[in-house]
Amino acid sequence: MTTAGKGNLPVEYTSLAGRAEEIAEGLLGLSESRLVTVTGPGGVGKSRVATRVAHGARRRFPDGVWYAELSHVADERSLVAAVAATMGRPELTTAEEVADAFAGWRALLVLDTCEHLMGPVSRLVEAVLRGTGTTKVLAVSRVLLTVPGQRVLTVGPLPEHQALALLVERARAVDQGFELTEATRPFAEEICRSLEGVPLAIELAAGCLRSLPLAELLERMDDRWPDLAGSSTNVLARQRDLRSLVEWSHALCGAEQRVLWEALSVLSGSFPLEVAEAAGAAAGLPEADVAAVLCDLVDHSVVLREPTADGMRYRLLGLYRRVGLARLDGRQRAPLDRTPPPPPPPRTPPAPRAAPLSPREAQVATLIAEGLTNLQIANRLVISKRTVDAHVRNILAKSNLASRTHVAAWVTTEDTSVRL
Ligand SMILES: Nc1ncnc2c1ncn2[C@@H]1O[C@H](COP(=O)(O)OP(=O)(O)OP(=O)(O)O)[C@@H](O)[C@H]1O
Ligand SMILES: [Mg+2]
Repeated sequence: MTTAGKGNLPVEYTSLAGRAEEIAEGLLGLSESRLVTVTGPGGVGKSRVATRVAHGARRRFPDGVWYAELSHVADERSLVAAVAATMGRPELTTAEEVADAFAGWRALLVLDTCEHLMGPVSRLVEAVLRGTGTTKVLAVSRVLLTVPGQRVLTVGPLPEHQALALLVERARAVDQGFELTEATRPFAEEICRSLEGVPLAIELAAGCLRSLPLAELLERMDDRWPDLAGSSTNVLARQRDLRSLVEWSHALCGAEQRVLWEALSVLSGSFPLEVAEAAGAAAGLPEADVAAVLCDLVDHSVVLREPTADGMRYRLLGLYRRVGLARLDGRQRAPLDRTPPPPPPPRTPPAPRAAPLSPREAQVATLIAEGLTNLQIANRLVISKRTVDAHVRNILAKSNLASRTHVAAWVTTEDTSVRL
């Protein structure tokens, strides 16, 4: 289905939370430049913002707004074919022919999902911009294009209150009776915080609320995060679950970028360049190269930049950290890896009078023994502190031990008189 007006701009089926500023910036960008690239991490809402900008600008383009979604396009030939099909001109077979078709037009070409086609898209866009003085291009890409004169519109996570509003609205779509109460609101807020305002993650979480209460969803999210998938009617395979969403970016990174991504994943919160350099060097990258690789990761929307009064800081969204940590963990466990093998799993011998610990509780018990606080454990395992608190309570209850110190003593000594 498309909207009124020339072209094939898709209709939006769901409401949009926030984004007034980004849309205004996009509209301004299109009046001042001929190429605007909407960029940002996966699932953050780039396509939604771009679609709104294109809707808002469509009266300025009497020859139409032509939209092509490129997820399934693999090379230059299919790119040209996709744009030609969009325009209803299947006979066009080269970038130059497409550019000629736009000649003399006041049109807007929207290319959605360009990150896996950087070379072909950049060539096509340059041809179109060269071949016509009046057609403009709105590109949507996790990775910045390499076309001169591009204006960049960065889309970041939603602020907390908008994320919460989105969760509630999408929850009502699957359960009309869904209401937040004073008792359940903190769980909803915690879910939005732990999903860091990424709309796709929030939509997937909301889909689960059809079958799970908020508190239970929050508890399960920590362990089953990568598989978080809603009733998913989403047609894009990479958006059906959060692991696929982020793996799509991982596949587009080079070897050095992946090494740095994984090395930075152990850092929670934001960090300055020097910390990234030290982490990259410890992972085997030449220290002098780390700044450039970090820049690549920023261009890929894997690392976010945060200007502060003390200079630039960097951070990875939790979604990206988890995939980095999982990759790191996988490599360290690989049989051919020369790094020392990971420590054996904590002992959880069956206790005659106590319930056995779950694998996660056993992991938490081991970290307690290493002297980590609950907050540090939360950061290490990339789960919320509240969940760690709950695990610690369970460990104490199941083991009949009185305190964390007792738990630490048991894990670090061979004392079998106290068994978990
Ligand atoms: N501000 C918003 N309000 C409501 N829903 C939103 C908002 N932003 C995004 N969404 C929803 O979240 C999902 C992901 O959004 P979108 O596809 O625009 O992300 P994206 O940044 O383009 O992701 P990708 O990098 O995978 O292409 C979609 O289902 C979309 O409808
Ligand atoms: Mg998109």
